[in-house]
Amino acid sequence: MSAIGYEAWLQYLPLAEERQQALSRWFGCIIATETSEVIATAAAELERGLGRMLGVTPASRSSRDNDSGRGCIAIGTFSGSNPSVTRVFGESSARLDTGAEGFAIRTDEASGIIAIGAEQPAGVLYGVFHLLRLIAIGASIGELNVVERPANAIRMMNQWDNIDGSVERGYAGQSIFYENNAIKSDLSRVEDYARLLASTGLNAITINNVNVHRLETLFITESFLPDIARIAAIFRRYAIKLFLSVNFASPIETGALTTADPLDADVKAWWKAKANELYQAIPDFGGFLVKADSENRPGPFTYGRDHADGSNMLAEALLPHGGLVIWRCFVYNCKQDWRDRKTDRARAAYDHFKPLDGRFMDNVILQIKNGPMDFQVREPVSPLFGALPATNCMMEFQIAQEYTGQARHLCYLVPQWKEVLDFDTYAKGEGSYVKHVVDGSVFGYKHSGFAAVSNIGDNMNWTGHPLAQANLYGYGRLAWNPALESDAIAEEWTRLTFGNDERVVRTVIGMLMDSWGIYESYTAPLGVGWMVSPNHHYGPDVDGYEYSKWGTYHFSDYKGMGVDRTLATGTGYAGQYQEPNASLYGTLETCPDELLLFFHHVPYTHVLHSGKTVIQHIYDTHFEGVERADGLLQRWNELEGQVAAETFKLAADRFAEQAEHAREWRDRINTYYLRKSGINDALGRTIY
Ligand code: GCU
Repeated sequence: MSAIGYEAWLQYLPLAEERQQALSRWFGCIIATETSEVIATAAAELERGLGRMLGVTPASRSSRDNDSGRGCIAIGTFSGSNPSVTRVFGESSARLDTGAEGFAIRTDEASGIIAIGAEQPAGVLYGVFHLLRLIAIGASIGELNVVERPANAIRMMNQWDNIDGSVERGYAGQSIFYENNAIKSDLSRVEDYARLLASTGLNAITINNVNVHRLETLFITESFLPDIARIAAIFRRYAIKLFLSVNFASPIETGALTTADPLDADVKAWWKAKANELYQAIPDFGGFLVKADSENRPGPFTYGRDHADGSNMLAEALLPHGGLVIWRCFVYNCKQDWRDRKTDRARAAYDHFKPLDGRFMDNVILQIKNGPMDFQVREPVSPLFGALPATNCMMEFQIAQEYTGQARHLCYLVPQWKEVLDFDTYAKGEGSYVKHVVDGSVFGYKHSGFAAVSNIGDNMNWTGHPLAQANLYGYGRLAWNPALESDAIAEEWTRLTFGNDERVVRTVIGMLMDSWGIYESYTAPLGVGWMVSPNHHYGPDVDGYEYSKWGTYHFSDYKGMGVDRTLATGTGYAGQYQEPNASLYGTLETCPDELLLFFHHVPYTHVLHSGKTVIQHIYDTHFEGVERADGLLQRWNELEGQVAAETFKLAADRFAEQAEHAREWRDRINTYYLRKSGINDALGRTIY
C-alpha cells in the first residue's frame, strides 16, 4: 500500500542526488550470512531502505565483493558466521556494551565495510533501522562508531482491540487484527505494523483488549490458537513477542470448571495444562496481561484471595516455559457514592498493592499507569513507583489520546511522559527517578520496562491525525532510551515523515512541542482533571463526572474548588509519596501550581505562585488556549504546498476542528466558573 501516511516514518524518501552519490559508495553489497529469520528481515529492510533513499540495489553476498570497488554493509551477530562482521569488530565485540538487544555500528574505512553487529539477531535488526534513520535524517556515516543498548528490557505495545473489530478507546478506525468475530485472514497490515514497531525498538505486544469479553476468552483455546499462532509468527520475524490478555475467570467461562479460585487445585491444574497447550502452539509465547478485579472484571477477590494469590497462580503455570504474568494495578472502586468524601480513587492502586510487596513471584510484573487516576492531561506520578522494592514493576502509558483530544486535537505526549520518567521518587534517596525504577536499576528488578496503549487502527495513516504518529514513534524511542529529549524525538520523527525542508521541520517541531500545553490550557485547570463528557470522554462537561460513581470529582461550589488530598484534612493521598514529595504536595504553599487542585481545595481567590488568583488563571488560560489553538491552525496553514496535499488537508481539517472545540471548552469552563463564583474576569472579556 502506498497511500499517503501509510508508511509513516519508514517512507525512506529519496535523498538529494549529491548525497545519494556520496553515500552509495558504501553500499555495493549487503553481506548477511546467518539464516536467522530476524536477520533476513533486517537484510530485506536494508535493501528496501537503501534502494529508496539512494536508488541503489546492493547485491546480496556472503562475503566481501572485491571487484566492484565499492564498499559493502555487513550485518550479523558477533558470534555468527559473517567474516566481515568479525573482522570489523574483532576482539572488541566482547567489550562493547550492547547487552542482549543492543547493537554496534562501525565504519571501517580500511576494508570499505560498514558493519552492524549485535549479540542477537534482534540487535542486528535494531541496528539496521538505526542506520537507515541516520541516513534519512542527514547524518554523516563516514566515521560511524555507534553503540546502543535499550534501557528497558520490556518494550511493549498494548492493543485494546476486540474480536468484533472495534478498538476500545480507538480513534483511528477499526482493528487491523480482527473483524466480524474472527481473526482477519489477510494479516498483511499486521506485518506492516510489526515493521513500524520494530523500527522504534519495541519487542513485545499484547494483541487483545485488557477487557477480555466472551469470545476473546476463547483465544487460549483451540478455536483461536492456530490463528493467534499465525499472528505470533508475523511478529516473530520482527523480534516481537506476542502476549495475550486473559480473563481470570477462563476456567469457568470456557466451560471447564465451576470455580476460578486461584488456590483451588483443579484451577491450578487447568491453567498449567493451558500453558502447555499455548507453548505447544507458540513456543516463544510471552505470557499473560491481566486486568482483574477492576471495572467489573473477574478476579481473585471473588474467592477471598488477593492479587498476589491470583497472579502467582498464573505465574506458576507459565514458569516452566519462561512466560511472564503482567498484572495491572488499575484497581479501584468504580461504584463509589459521590457523597462519600473519604474514599479517594487516587489512593486505590497504592492501597491495594503496597501491602503485597514481596509476595509476587519473580515472573510477575505489576503494570502501573503513569498517574493514580487515568491518563488525564495532568496528574501527578503514581506513588506506587518507588514504593515496591521487592516486586517487579513496569510503566503503563496511553498513546491513544483518550482524555487528550482523541486524535482530533494535537497533543504530543512525549513531554508529558518525560516529566513522569524524570520524576524523583526518592525511593533510595535523591536521584531515584521513575525511569530508573522501571528500567529495574533502582531495586534490581528481574523484569521491568514499558507498556503503552496503542493509538492505531485501520485508518490509512494508522493514527487518524497525521501528527499523532509522532506519539507512536516517540513512545518506542523513549522505551528504548528515556534520556532522549522530547524535541530531539520530534525532530527525528518530523524529518523521517516530512523530509528535511528546514521550514517544515522547524514549524512541525514547534507545533508538537507546544501542543500538550495548549491542550491543557483550554481543558480542565490546575490538575483537577475529568471535566469531559461521560463515557466517550471527548469534549467539555464540567459536571459530567461530578455526581457519578467513578470517583472523579472537582468539588466546585460558590467559594472554591479542588480535592483535598492532604494528610491533615483530606484523603491522605499526599502521604503515599516519600519525602520530600509528600510535604511538597501536601503543603499548600509548596504544591506546584499545575497540580494545585489535584491536592488542595482552595477558594477561587487563592493566589498561585504565578501571582494570579485561581479564578483569573482559569479565565486567562482558557482565553489564551483558544488563541494558541488558532495559532496551530495558522502555523499549519503556512505549510500548504510544502507537505503532501492529502496529509495537509487531513491535518488542516483537524486543526480547524480543534480551534472550534477549544472555544467550546473555553466558554463552558469560563461560564461555569463565572456563574459559580460570581467573580468577574479582570479583563472584562466575554463570558456567557
Ligand atoms: C479507562 C478506560 C477504559 C479502560 C480502562 C483500563 O477507564 O476508559 O476503557 O478499560 O481505563 O485501563 O482498564
